[in-house]
Amino acid sequence: MTRTITIASGKGGTGKTTIAANLGVALSQLGYDVTIVDADIAMANLELVLGMEGLPITLQNVLAGEAKIEEAVYVGPGGVKIVPAGVSLEGLRKANPEKLEDVLIHLMENTDILLLDAPAGLERNAVIAIASAQELLLVVNPEISSITDGLKTKIVAERLGTKVIGAIVNRITTLGVEMAKSEIEAILETKVVGLIPEDPEVRKSAAYGKPVVLRSPESPASKAIMELAQTLVGVRKEKKPLAIEEKKKEGAIAKMLKVFRRRK
Ligand SMILES: Nc1ncnc2c1ncn2[C@@H]1O[C@H](COP(=O)(O)OP(=O)(O)OP(=O)(O)O)[C@@H](O)[C@H]1O
Ligand SMILES: [Mg+2]
Repeated sequence: MTRTITIASGKGGTGKTTIAANLGVALSQLGYDVTIVDADIAMANLELVLGMEGLPITLQNVLAGEAKIEEAVYVGPGGVKIVPAGVSLEGLRKANPEKLEDVLIHLMENTDILLLDAPAGLERNAVIAIASAQELLLVVNPEISSITDGLKTKIVAERLGTKVIGAIVNRITTLGVEMAKSEIEAILETKVVGLIPEDPEVRKSAAYGKPVVLRSPESPASKAIMELAQTLVGVRKEKKPLAIEEKKKEGAIAKMLKVFRRRK
């Protein structure tokens, strides 16, 4: 059965597009037929990260009723299939995001895994992307505001009946100032399924329009994304995570968490 997974976050810029693109390629390398849909129709950049800008027919055209979804599917790096969002403002005005779910139903007939790169936040297009998929991966950075905003997205997903698979903590540094995995799991009340380090190769690859998992497969972020792909499809059991030292004391964050939960 086809899996549809939205890659979402509370805050912007946590790494959704990077992860959607590279996770898609990683899953293709594991032998799955993967389609990545850029559901961020207002701020499309999946096609840029994959070096596929300027494609003639995009999701905007499909959501405007001007083209069939089959015409907006392109084969990208590593054999992953891409549905670009399109960058035209006029196209954006004409597109009806509420058609997204129907579009996905068509795509599901021809693929094993559908990944949706969602817009940040909880505006209409983000909520539609969250509601349109069966499952959700929450991308957070290891800092408190990113996690608490992520919690709002997670709560909305649950209300919409989208199953939250877990959180991916992206851009982990070795500065030692970050939140521990156990703290993040306690706040989000979900498993951390991936830990991706801060890695200069990610930006370099994006600048060249190539997925980092293909351009620098041995880089720390690539290895973490490959591992995440394996975890998602159950190729092997979760290994001991790469980064984040477990902290013993909870301190201020645990206290803040209690306050936050009371308000939820
Ligand atoms: N692990 C990482 N190491 C270094 N840079 C990263 C990493 N992950 C993402 N980045 C960089 O962070 C920036 C934001 O990433 P990205 O565009 O994937 O985030 P996003 O969540 O899709 O943003 P938006 O909310 O605007 O759609 C990009 O410049 C990207 O190259
Ligand atoms: Mg993005």
